[in-house]
Amino acid sequence: MSFKSRFNQKYKDTPNVFGDKPMPIIENALKYVSSGLALDLGVGNGRNTIYLLSRGFRVTGVDMSKEGIALVKERVPKGSDLNLIVSDVLDFETTEKFDFVCAIGLFHFLNIESINKIIKNMKDFTKSAGLNVIAARMTQNYMGDLPHIFVHDELKSYYSTDEDWEILEYKEQGNMHRKVTMLIAQKK
Ligand SMILES: C[S@@+](CC[C@H](N)C(=O)[O-])C[C@H]1O[C@@H](n2cnc3c(N)ncnc32)[C@H](O)[C@@H]1O
Repeated sequence: MSFKSRFNQKYKDTPNVFGDKPMPIIENALKYVSSGLALDLGVGNGRNTIYLLSRGFRVTGVDMSKEGIALVKERVPKGSDLNLIVSDVLDFETTEKFDFVCAIGLFHFLNIESINKIIKNMKDFTKSAGLNVIAARMTQNYMGDLPHIFVHDELKSYYSTDEDWEILEYKEQGNMHRKVTMLIAQKK
């Protein structure tokens, strides 16, 4: 079953699968940039986007799962400043520049060529002084089919070798069963 079908089924079976609370790294990142335009790649069923909207951001959310996007629509308050797009992130293009670009739990579903492309896009889509906020797995899932698992300092290296970016926070957290790499970087 493709990841797209799997996520569509997951959101049908368990609409609140990722809960209501944002990932702590999203809350944490708001101490650096606290308003403006946000882009949430792999928005899922919306926990991070809903939080960003509640803090006054205008948000664009992209996900290949139409079921996930339908749940976000149901969950957000009426009149929210939100643009939702059902699309593979690899096909998503924009001329807009964002203050806050996040990809939480997305990258381990992509192969390395796709990760390179999406990080390049995220950087291009970001305004000067804007943020990139990323969290991805360093351990396999129970089915063993994630295309890319990050190794020590791998995510960091995309930004530490780029003179246009400064890493504000970088963490690797968890144990041998479930470990996550997390980064907040700012465009100079
Ligand atoms: C683990 S969920 C995380 C959702 C959300 N970011 C969160 O933190 O709750 C990963 C999401 O990425 C989406 N996704 C995976 N690969 C994708 C791709 N190539 N294009 C668009 N969305 C993708 C899935 O449909 C799923 O909704």
